[in-house]
Amino acid sequence: MKSEKLIVGNMKMNLSATEISEYLKKFQFDDPQDQVVICPSAVYIPYFLKQPYKVGIQNVFFRDKGAYTGEISVSQVASLGIEYVIVGHSERRIYFKESDQDINKKVISALKYGFTVILCIGETAEEKGLLKTARVLKRQLLNCLRNVDTHYFSKIIIAYEPVWAIGSDVTPTLMEIEETIQYIKGIVLQYFGHEDIRVMYGGSVNSKNIEELNQISNVSGFLVGGASIRAEEFLKIIEVTVKK
Ligand code: 13P
Repeated sequence: MKSEKLIVGNMKMNLSATEISEYLKKFQFDDPQDQVVICPSAVYIPYFLKQPYKVGIQNVFFRDKGAYTGEISVSQVASLGIEYVIVGHSERRIYFKESDQDINKKVISALKYGFTVILCIGETAEEKGLLKTARVLKRQLLNCLRNVDTHYFSKIIIAYEPVWAIGSDVTPTLMEIEETIQYIKGIVLQYFGHEDIRVMYGGSVNSKNIEELNQISNVSGFLVGGASIRAEEFLKIIEVTVKK
């Protein structure tokens, strides 16, 4: 059975507390709510916990507890009943120098606590220009999934987010996305023996291009950045992609 698509809103470091309460009033929709995950800034997570849709966190630290000022542990997030965690976003890799090895520790730790892990991978414009996309994606997959027990793979969703497509209003063609998703699935099958890993697409997904992107046959959902902070726009994306 083909699983339903998952729509994840990565709000990044956006919106004030007042704007969040406005958002919560506007962001209302009917079933099925379990196909929608909203990942606000961590400080706002408590506002979202009573909502009928799912809540996720944009990042976690892999250690359980201790003197790590400013960090939030997987066990703390799990204790709130949150089910989804985004790991390895390119903004974490680029601005906070997270390595594949750091991300691997986060993946393992989050899986241990029962999270569904959204693992972001993607090539930069430079890597694409040098025709290194396949090599980069393979390296990220092999390093970030290293030593992950295969029985966890059903709890992992790969988010293919080409760095050059994020916040740029430019997306790859449908065929490029479809072929890249197939490539990712092939790598996971070849190296980890797991068939049909779920792969989402992220990068400049909006209410104008979603009908088209939704035609990609092998996509398991979308990771939406900028468009997810505008409630009306995000609702349109959900309407197109989530089957009632
Ligand atoms: P945009 O949708 O703003 O391009 O961001 C995508 C993204 O980084 C989601 O994680």
